[in-house]
Amino acid sequence: MQATFDTDLTPYNTFGLRAKAKAFVALSHEQDLPDIVRLPEFDRQSVLWLGGGSNILLTEDYHGLVVHLENKGIRETGRSNGVVFIEAQAGEIWHDFVCHTLKLGLSGLENLSLIPGTVGASPVQNIGAYGVEVKDVIHSVRCFDLDTLEFVELSNAECRFAYRESLFKQAGKGRYVITAVVFALKETFHADLGYGDLAAAVAERCGGRAPTAQDVSAAVCAIRNSKLPDPKILGNVGSFFKNPVVSAQTAQTLLEKYPAMPRYPQADGSVKLAAGWLIDQCRLKGHQIGGAAVHDKQALVLVNKNQATGQDVYRLAQHIRQTVRQAFQVELETEPNWLPALV
Ligand code: EPU
Repeated sequence: MQATFDTDLTPYNTFGLRAKAKAFVALSHEQDLPDIVRLPEFDRQSVLWLGGGSNILLTEDYHGLVVHLENKGIRETGRSNGVVFIEAQAGEIWHDFVCHTLKLGLSGLENLSLIPGTVGASPVQNIGAYGVEVKDVIHSVRCFDLDTLEFVELSNAECRFAYRESLFKQAGKGRYVITAVVFALKETFHADLGYGDLAAAVAERCGGRAPTAQDVSAAVCAIRNSKLPDPKILGNVGSFFKNPVVSAQTAQTLLEKYPAMPRYPQADGSVKLAAGWLIDQCRLKGHQIGGAAVHDKQALVLVNKNQATGQDVYRLAQHIRQTVRQAFQVELETEPNWLPALV
């Protein structure tokens, strides 16, 4: 196994930022991990484990080793009481995997259709869309533990999932390399259509007949395509900010001023707000700094309009945070990771 040097990372990040890796190696099989750890370029503190590159912002060249996880494979590992366990290797493309499970007649992933990225990245930020989070269908996560240099299976509970959060972003950061994920999918379809206008979109598609998981997937794809830009055409990293969670009191104060404000009450009494709505209210759709702009159809997404640099994106993000802070006294937190860390 050998690394390449000064490797162009532009095709490996969906925002399309121009950056090079000092050293780069592709991982095709998880069994190669012990060899990677022995490479002279390997340094645990600075290595970047890279999946689909849909959650990173490269603001300069990467000064360490980048390991691109390309291990593939999907297999059934067991069945019990209507639940089918499917293991997918980290390098599988997320949406292709979702389609594969739908073709097998399984359900559970249909609401998560068309999310960019890889299977291995899905547990890290607990990807979620249209009322479902991947934690709802993950059985366990297989990892290479850099402390012990052994493979471990972490249960769903051990992964400590929360909204766009997990062990892999907290205490386990820099320790666990995710090599595969086991999903618990269902043989029988139960529609989860509680989010926004999904039920209406599915009903329109089915015209009176009972929907299937494939119908839900098709409706989700249509909604996403109508407002989220395709990273292959217009560079982006999906939602740029997390939806902020505020106290019940803060939400109440804002509601008195903005009765139409979208809000999602949480089990603990706090209230999640829609960052896209807050940004939109500040009339920032289409706002551009250098080559980076706020998408004109969905204010939560920043796009690479014209050879944006990391600095353009950073300045735009800061401008948005400051404008929203001034207007609503709400702090926005960036969802993707800045490399190197900035916000
Ligand atoms: N809204 C606006 N203007 C906008 C954008 C949104 O007024 O420009 C309003 C919408 O009308 C709606 C509310 O804000 O009332 C929420 O919008 P939407 O349903 O489009 O979802 P979101 O909160 O913007 C979240 C996820 C998305 C996921 C969708 C659907 C986060 C940070 N984002 O977006 O996830 O697809 O819900 O479930 O939680 C991603 O993480 O990359 C991502 C795309």
